[in-house]
Amino acid sequence: MSLQNNINLDAKKILLINDKGNYTIPTDGLYPFQWNWDSAFAAYGFAQFDIPRAWKELETLFSAQWNNGMVPHIIYHQIDDSYFPGPNIWKGIGPIPSSGITQPPVVASLMKKIWELDTNYGNEQIRLLFPKVLKWHRWFMQWRFQEGLVFINHPWEAGRDNAPDWDSALAAINPAGVAPYKRRDTEHVNPLMRPTKSDYDRYIWLVQQGRECKWNADWLRKNSSFKVADPAMHFILLRANRDLRLIGINLEEDISEIDSWIASLEKGASKLWNASISSYDSFDLLNFNFAGSISSASFMCWYAGLYDKRMLTHYDRIMKKVKYGMPSYDPESKRFDRKRYWRGPSWAIMNMLIGFGLEEVGELKRASLLKAQTNRAISENGFAEYFDPIDGSPAGGNTFTWTAAVWLGWAKTMGGANGFN
Ligand code: DGY
Repeated sequence: MSLQNNINLDAKKILLINDKGNYTIPTDGLYPFQWNWDSAFAAYGFAQFDIPRAWKELETLFSAQWNNGMVPHIIYHQIDDSYFPGPNIWKGIGPIPSSGITQPPVVASLMKKIWELDTNYGNEQIRLLFPKVLKWHRWFMQWRFQEGLVFINHPWEAGRDNAPDWDSALAAINPAGVAPYKRRDTEHVNPLMRPTKSDYDRYIWLVQQGRECKWNADWLRKNSSFKVADPAMHFILLRANRDLRLIGINLEEDISEIDSWIASLEKGASKLWNASISSYDSFDLLNFNFAGSISSASFMCWYAGLYDKRMLTHYDRIMKKVKYGMPSYDPESKRFDRKRYWRGPSWAIMNMLIGFGLEEVGELKRASLLKAQTNRAISENGFAEYFDPIDGSPAGGNTFTWTAAVWLGWAKTMGGANGFN
């Protein structure tokens, strides 16, 4: 059997190992519950060989949707002490024990791809999910949108937990009064690959703030101590609305509300442009400053349907410095740390979304190189959570669901003759 076939089988095996029946965990030990965007990628992975299981994943995710429309970032379907913080720290207010924040809304876009793989089976499923996804997007536009920008109330909401994008906004928080806690993540993974204690104190302090107001979205919108506009969140929501719009047209639904969101998000995107670094950047809405970050999030503009050629210069400069896909942070920055989570490593999911965008705007050579590098990271080093972008060494957790899903849904076929650099 060829190496390629072996890796395909291994990728399927990872999804099956992490499969809890109706939902998939990212990886045992480090992340033993259902995570929001991990689950959407898991569904996309399952769809490559088991379409009904893919839809089941999304159905389970939305069974945790709150009354106000939010879909939480962690759903605690069962008890597991190997992870901190658990449901009693969060005290989410939804139908299933959960966290109190959300995560990047990749669901609409991946659900559309799953539906396209089998429209017969998908027709009924997508009809059931459409109003739920619409309600979630409405929640974003109502509670996480200000001055044209999509913002986050917690670094975990972005999914890019310790990105340098949040450094100055977090530094402005004094975590006095944070209750004593014991981290579990550093028992599973080398602490050098995880966020620092200073970051964690603030993560937990922000959780306490949300819990104290009982996750009142209106209160948090006005008073949260952390409000940063995130290019990845903004671009992912814009793209998700474009896809939801197409689904809506197919279902003969009224899409005028979605049209107005797309227009607002398109207009707002220009405010994320930081002219002083010629890049899309995160913007702190409380302290009114840009983060000064060129990150993998900055390159999500193409995925959002904005063919902004200005980002290609940075893209080419950064890709010349690496061999295993787009690093999560500019390797020429002092803040770059090639092993530490979202401060440097390459992530297969980000590579795939950036790759989709590049393909769609016709940058086929660049898309194909990014795919080839992701393929190489996985074939040489397995299904790691993330990879050192320079030498490809695996980092973070292993047997990771979304890396396996990206392999099955995108990286396994190299396409094009551009190969590696
Ligand atoms: C963690 O615990 O590291 C997660 O990223 C939070 O979602």
